[in-house]
Amino acid sequence: MAIEDEIKQFFAAEEIHLPESMKLLIELKDKFNIPEFDADAILQSIKGDGEHAKKSRMYLRNRIRESLNACQRCPLYLSETHTQKVPGEGPLNSPLVLIGEGPGLDEDKQGRPFVGRAGQLLTTILDKLNISREKIYITNVIKCRPPQNRTPNKKEITACSHNLELELSMISPKVIIALGAVPLNYFKPGSSIMRERGRWITSRGYWIMPTFHPAYILRQQGKTLVKVKWAVWHDFNNALEKLTELYPEAISKISYNEKE
Ligand code: URA
Repeated sequence: MAIEDEIKQFFAAEEIHLPESMKLLIELKDKFNIPEFDADAILQSIKGDGEHAKKSRMYLRNRIRESLNACQRCPLYLSETHTQKVPGEGPLNSPLVLIGEGPGLDEDKQGRPFVGRAGQLLTTILDKLNISREKIYITNVIKCRPPQNRTPNKKEITACSHNLELELSMISPKVIIALGAVPLNYFKPGSSIMRERGRWITSRGYWIMPTFHPAYILRQQGKTLVKVKWAVWHDFNNALEKLTELYPEAISKISYNEKE
């Protein structure tokens, strides 16, 4: 019997449910004849630029979306101001992941993260850093728009966490930028963004840089606006420095090419 079948049988017999990420990796291994056995090696095999790796990432992307679309773990998917789930966007081999709070009105309409005013500002920040938005992964803590764009509550965040966890476990990014209090508290509960921004958090093997949410920048004026902009600029640069330190080729992977 193949080792994966033995593992599946063991977990079924013990009535232990395999985590969704593990099931997906086994599925991927079967589907794409990946010879590796351990999860890290399977993930490594899909990071490259070859056709095989690209196809397996496309498959994973679709499976992550299917899993999200089937999600009914909290009532937000029934809320009247919600029209669709908003999955993360970008390559699943991105060394950098940006995490926001949750979809707003524009994101809900378009089914894409960070496409409203805050998203435009985020894209501008990335452009100024010569980072191509299409080359990094951008997602949110929750995937359904809450009524009146209110902050998601703890129950909703916990219920939705399997979606973000699935994305992160497939991407295994080197660095995460947490945009605002909601993603910060996801990784470090009970923290204040005012106190923690700009300070590294290491959690579950990720280097996480908390910074202000772009919507917060948009609400500032005068001297505070200047201060907040500098803080965010500093935090993004700090995150990129760490990324280069951990993975020297990262910046060339996520930058605009000179020709572009
Ligand atoms: N704010 C967020 O936190 N996420 C989005 O996708 C858009 C706005």
